[in-house]
Amino acid sequence: MEIAVFSTKPYDQAYFEKYAQDQAHEFSFFETSLNRHTANLTIDFDAVVVFVNDSVDKATIEILSTNGIQLIALRCAGFNNVDVEAAQKKNIKIVRVPAYSPEAVAEHAVALILTLNRKTHKAYNRVREGNFSLNGLMGFNLHGKTVGVIGTGTIGATFCRVMKGFGCNLVAFDVQESAELKELGVTFLSLNEVFKQADIISLHCPLNEQTQHLINKKSIAMMKDGVMIINTSRGALVDTEDAINGLSSKKIGYLGIDVYEQEENLFYQDLSESIIQDDLLLRLNSFPNVLITSHQAYFTKEAMKEITTTTLVNIDAFSKGQELENEVK
Ligand code: NAI
Repeated sequence: MEIAVFSTKPYDQAYFEKYAQDQAHEFSFFETSLNRHTANLTIDFDAVVVFVNDSVDKATIEILSTNGIQLIALRCAGFNNVDVEAAQKKNIKIVRVPAYSPEAVAEHAVALILTLNRKTHKAYNRVREGNFSLNGLMGFNLHGKTVGVIGTGTIGATFCRVMKGFGCNLVAFDVQESAELKELGVTFLSLNEVFKQADIISLHCPLNEQTQHLINKKSIAMMKDGVMIINTSRGALVDTEDAINGLSSKKIGYLGIDVYEQEENLFYQDLSESIIQDDLLLRLNSFPNVLITSHQAYFTKEAMKEITTTTLVNIDAFSKGQELENEVK
């Protein structure tokens, strides 16, 4: 098959070239993202490989279908950026990488918590400048704190196990409660109770109609004063303006985000010489208690290998007419 791989950086290409060596398929790498304006690049291809910020909406799918694309292979777990119904109507199959490294994302969530709390990023800069003062660097013990986990699937469950190791009390909300986590000592509560009881709230649920802007004015008002909110899931789980108001009023004590609702035109690019026009991001960056990373929670060697090899298995199974284990329906 002829496959167009979108939103590729040098590291994506390097991993595909390494693991696709024995494959009969031909891969072409495009730096641009896939959207309705770039979809015509898929002429002469059979399949597309896309990532988190490619916009595979109805209009894009119309063009993909006209160009004869038969398969959309997501090299990520979330598929909120693909119009699944539109693809099905055009008989285009969708596959994804459901769980490539839950540890990568869970560990990054912990990195955000520890950095915000113990301010190691500030300490690093201070010491390098010969400033050995501790003023403003005081943190709090994680031991004994209540951590609220929203979404206890593969990543949320891994995060629970890690936080248990810190001696935290774990409360959680999920539409499907996990018996295994209950055995670990996780208490499942209503969503509102999790908001009320947690010192730290970490989001690990998918983005859908029920979860969009889950963190909003109303839910923030229920939270403890000085709460820490961590989002490594999808940007639109948080209403950014409401979060900014929560930070301004000091209701939110710390915000750590690896994802941002308007990240599509920012993340994964070096814009250090540009004038950034996103006022919400600039406002967020003005708070000393906000830490933003550029959707990198997945970015470990182990995860990259798993993403690449599973995507290749998905494509190969499709090309051979085999059952698609990782199909999105
Ligand atoms: P998963 O499918 O294993 O778990 C999701 C959990 O959320 C399930 O237990 C499900 O029952 C629960 N859920 C569904 N609707 C819910 C609701 N309304 N309220 C509460 N819980 C709900 O997914 P996984 O692998 O744990 O990934 C979680 C999310 O993490 C993905 O949807 C994706 O958006 C994000 N992610 C972010 C990455 C990053 O680099 N920042 C990398 C990989 C995933």
